Amino acid sequence: MISFKKFHHFRKDPATRDKNSEVSLSPKDFIQPFFLVEGSEIYRKISSDCPLFHFSVDTALKEIEKLLHLGIDKILLFGVTEKEFKDEQATYATSPSNPVYLAIKAIKKNFPNITIMTDICICPYTSHGHCGIVEGQKILNDKTLPILAKMALFHAEAGADYVSPSAMMDGQVLAIRQELDKHKFSNVKIMSYSIKYASSFYGPFRDTINSSPSFGDRRTYQMDPRNASQALDEFRADVEEKADVFIVKPAHTYLDILYKIHQHSPKALLCAYQVSGEYMMLHASAQQGYLDLNQAVTEVFHAFKRSGAQWIITYDGSRYWSEK
Ligand code: PBG
Repeated sequence: MISFKKFHHFRKDPATRDKNSEVSLSPKDFIQPFFLVEGSEIYRKISSDCPLFHFSVDTALKEIEKLLHLGIDKILLFGVTEKEFKDEQATYATSPSNPVYLAIKAIKKNFPNITIMTDICICPYTSHGHCGIVEGQKILNDKTLPILAKMALFHAEAGADYVSPSAMMDGQVLAIRQELDKHKFSNVKIMSYSIKYASSFYGPFRDTINSSPSFGDRRTYQMDPRNASQALDEFRADVEEKADVFIVKPAHTYLDILYKIHQHSPKALLCAYQVSGEYMMLHASAQQGYLDLNQAVTEVFHAFKRSGAQWIITYDGSRYWSEK
């Protein structure tokens, strides 16, 4: 007689399923990105079918009030710049009229309890769209580091709680940590994009901030999707350089990487970044009637938690929790 194990009793009703669930979601797990532009009263979709928005500082403040009511208390700020303000040295990254700088100050003043995180990369501000300083066709890692450090200090002085280097320059966390400590900002934390793959899923984001590279691609500095072992090395390097939070990005296609790092260091605070193209796949499918957006994103967010993420960066947080 063949005997078999019985599992259905784990699933027989909602209460039993809840009791057997190993992960859950809270608005406190979520980080809401903002794309900030100069001006006022701006709240616009970047294109009719893409639900990513540009905000000016005033409209961002209104949106943040809504987020706080929903229980979302962490935001990640990105700058968007007009072509005429971009140059080879990304000067606008540390300009006092940069909307990120102005937003940090205004948000801190109006909502002292929200956690402000800022993206540290020069691609929104470089004329060539690369994340590093360029000479000929080459990306100059070491020449980029002081600029990232200066940008981080600029945000710290304005009141950022976390700075979040995404340029994938070697040594970026160390350079930023040293600069912050030197200027008595040891309290400002670093959420590093530790693992960032050269991915085709960043398309809608690049359209949003107009940062596609004018030549080549980002494969000389972002990770190769065919390699997993370097992810652990990148993570360890960021631990040594004293990062506080570690992002894995993209998340959907790299759950193996997230899980691997979680297994290696169960106590590290890991963050899954559901990038723009990943979110748009679900959003567009839902629009076409192929799936239910809430059910699909719930399943994906649970997968992030199951794989070891404590925090989730997604463009869908505000919509998701307001429809709950
Ligand atoms: C900046 C940066 C990118 C993303 C976050 N920070 C773009 C890139 O590396 O090209 C992508 C985020 C997304 O697609 O949602 N370097």
